[in-house]
Amino acid sequence: MQSKESNTKINTLLHSPLLYIHIPFCDSKCNYCAFNSYTNLNHLKKEYFNAIKKQLLNDIEKFNVTNFETIFIGGGTPSTMPISFYEKLFKLLEPFIKNTQEITIEANPNASFEWLKEIKNLGVNRISFGAQSFNDEKLKFLNRNHSSLQAIKTIENAKKAGFDNINLDIIYSTALDTYALLQNDLKTIDSLPITHISAYSLMIEENTKWEGDFSKRKEDEKLEIWFIDEVKKRFNQYEISNFGKKCLHNLGYWKHKEYLGIGAGAVGFIKNFRYYTQNDVYEYIKNPINYKYEHLNKKDLKKEKIFLGLRSIIGFEKNLLNENEKEKVKILISEKKLYEKNKKIYSYDFLLADAISAYILD
Ligand SMILES: C[S@@+](CC[C@H](N)C(=O)[O-])C[C@H]1O[C@@H](n2cnc3c(N)ncnc32)[C@H](O)[C@@H]1O
Ligand code: SF4
Repeated sequence: MQSKESNTKINTLLHSPLLYIHIPFCDSKCNYCAFNSYTNLNHLKKEYFNAIKKQLLNDIEKFNVTNFETIFIGGGTPSTMPISFYEKLFKLLEPFIKNTQEITIEANPNASFEWLKEIKNLGVNRISFGAQSFNDEKLKFLNRNHSSLQAIKTIENAKKAGFDNINLDIIYSTALDTYALLQNDLKTIDSLPITHISAYSLMIEENTKWEGDFSKRKEDEKLEIWFIDEVKKRFNQYEISNFGKKCLHNLGYWKHKEYLGIGAGAVGFIKNFRYYTQNDVYEYIKNPINYKYEHLNKKDLKKEKIFLGLRSIIGFEKNLLNENEKEKVKILISEKKLYEKNKKIYSYDFLLADAISAYILD
């Protein structure tokens, strides 16, 4: 990690980056969650709009944006914001979304039918539900504030509201997971009108209710492999955790495209700089354009390109490598771990990305 320095100036001629907008509000805090999200700051929602407006207009001008290629509104829980918030937001965005291919919003699977219809009408064309599971006991264990039935109804409502591009986030490898539980989740998944699954193995993170408590995780590699194989039978895997109709926004991240990061704790990437806004929502509202910058040198960028390429169908350019690294890749190709196509290197198994990139770059 590079050191962060304040007030570095980035001059760039940027026209069509991706846009990420962070909504840091949630109705309840999940036991595993380390995201920048809060349940006790709802009174700040109005001021939060003014702050993201200020940051958005600042960044659009500073980086010469004429269009956003894709947009992702994530959180936190974007579905906790009223439609009036998004009406104002899309008014601001209107001149920049004429050629936007994909607009995703994250939602809790208890959003109302009205909210879903209205958000669709505003131009959002992809929705991502934090379903996690369809087992009520597991949902309680995770401290989710929706039930399995509610989730099923909400996902069906999203389809009725006109969404053809629906993702479900699923968490596996929790202490409660069994073949029977996951099989039941898969059965429910099969019955739903979805196009994409993001499946995440539970991570025990710092600054969460479960910090340090590894008993909440189940270490059962056989069960994990079986579950991922079942997901793969239903949806094409295109990244370590992602399956189905490709999310253009996430593909953009992995291809190292430039993006604006708007909102408290958001991260942007312009030229060879990452920029970070303030995590603290009060501080962010006070000054939404107080950034810290992190410069990525050639070596950092190369490492990221190789790592992200090996985790996904994107692969990486062979000419990034020096002679010694090319020799190592040759060995991995002979061992059928990697393959080469059109001067790019790809992995057969995205789960090996960590180990393979460490070996190549060691
Ligand atoms: C940006 S988060 C939040 C989306 C939305 N707030 C929700 O939970 O409904 C996206 C996903 O990351 C996953 N996730 C968050 N924390 C995790 C953890 N500690 N381990 C594994 N997956 C996690 C969850 O599946 C979550 O839905
Ligand atoms: S997982 Fe999603 S809903 Fe749960 S606390 Fe984190 S951001 Fe909020």
